[in-house]
Amino acid sequence: MRILSVVGARPQFVKLAPIAQAMEGSAEHLIAHTGQHYDELMSDVFFRDLGIPAPDFNLGVGSGKHGAQTGAMLAGLEEIIETSAPDCVLVYGDTNSTLAAAVAATKLHVPVAHLEAGLRSFNRRMPEEHNRVLTDHSADLLLAPTQVAMDHLATEGLGKRSVLVGDVMTDVLYKVRESLVGSGAALPAGLSKGSYYVSTIHRPDNTDSPERLQAIISELASLDKPVLLLAHPRLRSLAEKHGIDLDQGAIVLSEPLAYPQLINAAMYSAGVVTDSGGLQKEAFLLRVPCTTIRPETEWVETVDLGWNVLVSAELSVLAATVQRPTPAPTDATPYGDGHAAKRAVAALLSAFGS
Ligand code: UD1
Repeated sequence: MRILSVVGARPQFVKLAPIAQAMEGSAEHLIAHTGQHYDELMSDVFFRDLGIPAPDFNLGVGSGKHGAQTGAMLAGLEEIIETSAPDCVLVYGDTNSTLAAAVAATKLHVPVAHLEAGLRSFNRRMPEEHNRVLTDHSADLLLAPTQVAMDHLATEGLGKRSVLVGDVMTDVLYKVRESLVGSGAALPAGLSKGSYYVSTIHRPDNTDSPERLQAIISELASLDKPVLLLAHPRLRSLAEKHGIDLDQGAIVLSEPLAYPQLINAAMYSAGVVTDSGGLQKEAFLLRVPCTTIRPETEWVETVDLGWNVLVSAELSVLAATVQRPTPAPTDATPYGDGHAAKRAVAALLSAFGS
């Protein structure tokens, strides 16, 4: 059986790593990279550090407005799917690369499987929400990370196509954490354990308005410990455009980190402040308190279990929230046991294998 994985943006490379490994010896696995993310630090470093095979195809689509970017991927992926003739196209998460691949395969009557299906923010302002809803409804097999995601799929009439496999990012995190413990890997910027925060901000709702971005940066700059701000290219370019200095007050400005370095930095931090989906969950799995600068989250378990607090309209409460006492311990495992990728590949073989 031949499976074509389509990826393009940073979080998808992390999800691809355990899947590529689980495919070995089970299926012929081809990888197409759309080129949505293309910087060394946003793309190449993930393939190297996580041992992902080099992509078989690279479209080099790059940045652009949603329609132009998604359209260029759609046209390019059509060619790739026709040439490679897979038995199934596997798409990941909720980016424009996910939607483009789902549409391209559906139009060519090639079965689509969606990894990380069923997540919902119910916020139609987010491009990721359009991408995941449209992808779920066009896919033939829905691989859900959580019971909550399964419930959303059932509510939308997609229950029969859904399988609960667990969260593949948990697979990667557990493995990388194990390799880090006792490794003595240095923290960035001379920071010392437990005495700094880690922050990432990149979502359009937080970066595109100068007033909003300025307010977030001012709050981060006034926290009581150094804030390692790992600046996504979108954040840097919009801060520059709006004339906002990112390097101020408590902020320690940094390039994005490679995955093992990110996990090392988060693991030894006093807290995480982010609008990233993945990092919220990684903070929970590492049992580091997280503050999420968004009105809602898809990873509701992190909030319900007390390890994640949402702050959105009332940014003035950010400092008090970030500096809150450590939450009550929990041994809950809503994201699975670290073997989700194996279950995902088994589900693919069972659905589309001959
Ligand atoms: C994308 C995903 C988002 C995911 C995020 C993770 C969509 C709609 N959004 O958002 O779900 O959480 O990736 O990072 O697909 N840029 C570079 N170098 C790069 C990549 C991007 O400089 O390697 C700049 C581009 O100039 C662009 C901006 O970053 O203006 C945004 O890139 P884009 O891929 O459109 O979306 P993200 O904001 O990264």
